[in-house]
Amino acid sequence: MCGIVGYIGDKQALPIVIKGLERLEYRGYDSAGILIYDQRKKEVYFEKQPGRIKNLTRVIDPDTPGTLGIGHTRWATHGQVNKANAHPHYDCQKKIFVVHNGIIENFREIKSSLIQRGHKFSSETDTEVFPHLLEELIKEGLSYEQAIIQSLKKIRGSFAFLIFNKDYPDMIVAARLSSPLILGLGDKEFILASDQTAIGLITNKIVYLNDGDIVFVNKNKYEIKSFLSEDTKNYEGIIDFSSAETEKGRFQNYMIKEIFDEPKAVEDTLRGRLLIEEGDVKLGGLDRVASRLKEIDNILITGCGTAFYAAKLAEYFFEEYAQISTKAEIASELRYKMPVVSEKTLLISVSQSGETADTLAVIKNFKTKGILTIGITNVVGSSIARLVDAGIYSHAGPELAVASTKAFLAQTVDLILLMIYLARQRKINVGEAKEILTELDQIHKKIQETIVDNDQKADSLAEKYLFAKDFLYIGRKYNFPIALEGSLKLKEISYVHAEGLASGEIKHGPIALIEEGFPTIIIAPQDSVYEKTISNLEEIKARKGKIIVITTKGNKSLEKLADDVIYIPETLELLSPLLSIVPLHLFAYYFAKKLGRDVDRPRNLAKSVTVE
Ligand code: F6R
Repeated sequence: MCGIVGYIGDKQALPIVIKGLERLEYRGYDSAGILIYDQRKKEVYFEKQPGRIKNLTRVIDPDTPGTLGIGHTRWATHGQVNKANAHPHYDCQKKIFVVHNGIIENFREIKSSLIQRGHKFSSETDTEVFPHLLEELIKEGLSYEQAIIQSLKKIRGSFAFLIFNKDYPDMIVAARLSSPLILGLGDKEFILASDQTAIGLITNKIVYLNDGDIVFVNKNKYEIKSFLSEDTKNYEGIIDFSSAETEKGRFQNYMIKEIFDEPKAVEDTLRGRLLIEEGDVKLGGLDRVASRLKEIDNILITGCGTAFYAAKLAEYFFEEYAQISTKAEIASELRYKMPVVSEKTLLISVSQSGETADTLAVIKNFKTKGILTIGITNVVGSSIARLVDAGIYSHAGPELAVASTKAFLAQTVDLILLMIYLARQRKINVGEAKEILTELDQIHKKIQETIVDNDQKADSLAEKYLFAKDFLYIGRKYNFPIALEGSLKLKEISYVHAEGLASGEIKHGPIALIEEGFPTIIIAPQDSVYEKTISNLEEIKARKGKIIVITTKGNKSLEKLADDVIYIPETLELLSPLLSIVPLHLFAYYFAKKLGRDVDRPRNLAKSVTVE
C-alpha cells in the first residue's frame, strides 16, 4: 500500500528515486510523484502524474539536478486517482513537502480545524493535513523538530512519512508507525524506503526503524529519536538477497519468473533444515521457545489471502500428524473474534511481506494476552518478524509480482517443517518423519518437472478456455486449500470470476451453476480421497460441464472422463499440494496474459496490504 523512497547524498537523486519507485511499484500504482531539491539554485522541483511511474518519467527532465529527493507510488485510499491526489503533498507556502504510506484516520477533524485557521487544501487526501499541520505548529512558535513530534502525536492511524522542508534543505525527516520504513546506510549517502528492494540500489546495510521512530537524515549522519518512548533500540541488518533477484531476467513478467523460481524457493527454504537420518528438523528460530512449544495443546493459525490458504493447509497437517487441535482463521476476522485461548495456545501467523495490517493486528492482540506467537515470513526484519516471539523464515527470495506464487510454496514447506517439529515433540516416530523428510528433500525436482511438463500445456489450455466467464475449482482434503488458491490466482490477475470449493460441497448448492460448457478444474491426485473426488467429477460430467482434471502421472483412467488432463508426478499425499498448485499458477498466468491483463500489477490491488 503505497511505496515511498528518499535519497540524500552526493549522487544525483532523480535516477535513484525513480529506480527506487520502480522497485516499489508493486505496492501501488495509481499515481506517482517526486520532489528533487537543487542545492545550488536552492530550488524545489516536483512533479506528479496519475498512473504508472512511466507516466511520471515521461514528463520529467531526466537531467533535473539535485542530490536530495523523495518519491511516492500510490495505492489510493482517500480521494480519486488523479494528479491533485498524487503525492508529494505540501503546505500553503509550498515549503513543506510530504510523501506518506498509511492512513490518517482523524484527518477530517484536523482538516476542518486547519481550514478554519485559513489553510487552503488542494487534494482530497488524508495525507495533505500533515504538511499543513506542521506549518501551523511552526507558525505557532514550535521548533521544526517539536512541530513534527506534536503533529505525529495529533494524528491517529498508520504512517511512514518522508518530510522535506525548504527551510532545512540539507535534511530529510522520516517517521513511522505501523507502516514499514527502512533506512539504508551508504557511504556519505542514505536511502529511506518502504522495503529492502529499493534500499539495495545503493547499499546492503540497513537499519530497521521501530514504531514511533523519527529519523533526521542529512548526507553525513542520521539521528533516530522516538515520539513514543525514550528508549529506542534499532536493529541493524544486511540485505540477504542479490540485486539480480529483483530483476526479471529472461522473463517477460515477474509473475512467470517467480513461478519458474518455485523449485528454488522450496530448495532454499529447506536448506540446512532437514535432519533426515534423525527424522527431525532444525529450526533455529524456534530454539528459544522449544520448551513452551512442548506444552502447546491448541493452535490458531492465521494470515490473509494466499498466506491464509497456506495456513489452511497447515490446519490439516497439524491435526493429522502432530495431533494438535488447530484452527485456521482469516486474520481480518480473527482480529475481531473472541477465540477461546489458554496459556497452551500457540498463534502462528503466515505472511509473505511480514507487513500485512490485519495479521499484525492479530499478533499484537494475542501478545497482550500472553499467547506464544510464531511468524512465518519471507522478509527478514519485517514488522511481523520483529514482533513475534519466534519465527521461521521462508527463503523464497523477493516476490515482486502482486500475485503471490513462490512464497505460497515456501510458506507451505515451512509449515510442513513446523508440523514435523511439533509432531516429533509428540507423536510421530522417526520412521514416519524420515519418510516425509526424504521425499521433501527431493520435492523441488518434482516441482521443476511439473513446470517443464505443464508450461506449454497451461498455455494451450488457457487459449482453449479463454471464452469462459466463470470457473469452479474443486479439491478435497489437502487439495481443498489448493482449489481456493488456484481460483484466487485466476480471478485476481484475469478479472474472470473463479470460485474455489471443497469438492463435497458442490452438491449443496454450487452444482446448480453447471450447464453445458461450464468449466470446472478438479484437483484429483491419486490419494486417500481420490475415489470421492472422481464421483464429483462424474456428477459434473453428467450435467455436460467441461472438466480439466489434475491427477497423478500414469493415471490414464481420466482421459475418457475429463476434457483435459494435467499430470503431476507421484509423491506423498501430504506433499501433493506443492505439485498440484504449480499448473494452476501457470494456467492463471497464461489466461490473464492472453486477456491482455497487466499480470504483475492487476487493477485495484497492491502487494503489501498495510491498511485494514
Ligand atoms: C494473492 C496475494 C494476497 C496475499 C495477501 C497476504 O496472490 O498475494 O492474497 O497473499 O495479501 O499478504 P502477505 O502474505 O504479505 O501477508
